[in-house]
Amino acid sequence: MTQHKSRIYSTEDARRLARRRLPRLVFDFVDGAAGREIGAARNVSQFDNVMLQPRVMADVAQCSSATTLMGQSYKVPFGIAPMGMCNLVHPKADKSMANAAKAMGFPLCLSSAASTSIEDMARMAGSHAWFQLYFGASREASLAMVERALMAGYDTLVLTVDVPQVSRRVRDLRNGFTVPFAMTPQAFFDFASHPRWSMSTLAAGTPRPMNFTDGNGSNTFDRGASRSGADWAFLEVLRDKWPGKLVVKGVTSPTDASRIRGLGIDAIYVSNHGGRQLDSVPPAIWLLPLIRDAVGPDFPLLFDSGIRNGEDMIKALALGADFVMIGRPTLFALGAEGAVGLNALLKCFAADIGVVMAQLGITSIDQLGPDVIFENTASETGHSETRTQAALRLAAKT
Ligand SMILES: Cc1cc2nc3c(=O)[nH]c(=O)nc-3n(C[C@H](O)[C@H](O)[C@H](O)COP(=O)(O)O)c2cc1C
Repeated sequence: MTQHKSRIYSTEDARRLARRRLPRLVFDFVDGAAGREIGAARNVSQFDNVMLQPRVMADVAQCSSATTLMGQSYKVPFGIAPMGMCNLVHPKADKSMANAAKAMGFPLCLSSAASTSIEDMARMAGSHAWFQLYFGASREASLAMVERALMAGYDTLVLTVDVPQVSRRVRDLRNGFTVPFAMTPQAFFDFASHPRWSMSTLAAGTPRPMNFTDGNGSNTFDRGASRSGADWAFLEVLRDKWPGKLVVKGVTSPTDASRIRGLGIDAIYVSNHGGRQLDSVPPAIWLLPLIRDAVGPDFPLLFDSGIRNGEDMIKALALGADFVMIGRPTLFALGAEGAVGLNALLKCFAADIGVVMAQLGITSIDQLGPDVIFENTASETGHSETRTQAALRLAAKT
């Protein structure tokens, strides 16, 4: 067994260490959410209300966490969610994620608002890189970005549709967080009191949204601009123009999900943006079985929002996801310890999956379904009837 060189054994470790190492402005950008941040907290806490039913005496000596999604094989059932400006937490964040994706055989979704360009990420992560599109200044500007992704060799495009307008995130407003940075006295003090971060990050060059530059190299990113051009008509145009796999991210309504499926989209990415857009959004794990119900048993579903360990991943896979994506935990780990922290946390997740599968008496990911969910969940919690009923409906179908 290789030595664990990190202080990170869980997302909670990573978050605690990141909170210490990062300037408040940066930590809050990652950790914060919309409104009173109740939706974000509920995403996480509702996983605790889903319980799993152990099964004994199965032969689980040969256990595999490999899976397929949209015809592609992956060694693990998880990837990294698109997140803007990752190099804010560590100057080599994007590079470290690309290396981890290649080493562990999972997809890494580059955000439109990334601090690494579409072309550089394609060079770093090769076929492991997906590209996430935010509708930009206009339809033409958005399609130009899509064209860049195509030319750079991406085969999977993820259109994010749950940010018609960036929400009010109180911590960012209070901290004066802007992209690119405005060096206010408050920010100066914040950076000065975190010299390790400041020396490495600012020395490497202040991270910028690298996909938004004009011909003169000036930044054209407007974080507050409306992205509501990502409408049904645009989705149809995109389907027409994008020859590869097309995924729609940020879907929480079964009705929307059915309609998206009808447009020939390859997969739906169930997500409430980690509670960063609407505080009163239902917890994502509640929505998942309802959307599985709406799109049928075989349609590819990805999931994020609230995943904090491998056990959570197993719950999401059992409740209807084919694949899960990790958001904040990766940035906490990178912020805490760079590549060492990221790799340590990802290994914890992979190890969790193997151990939990063994406890459930299963040897492959495709054996996960509603029957591994402890049926009494609803009466135990009093809050999860909808999810459990949906899970049971699903179970009755299979
Ligand atoms: C710092 C940060 C930046 C994000 N930027 C994007 C983005 O550019 N595009 C996008 O589709 N989602 C973005 N997201 C949302 C994530 O893809 C994902 O849906 C969310 O983090 C899941 O919630 P969780 O981190 O609580 O698990 C961002 C999330 C965070 C934390």
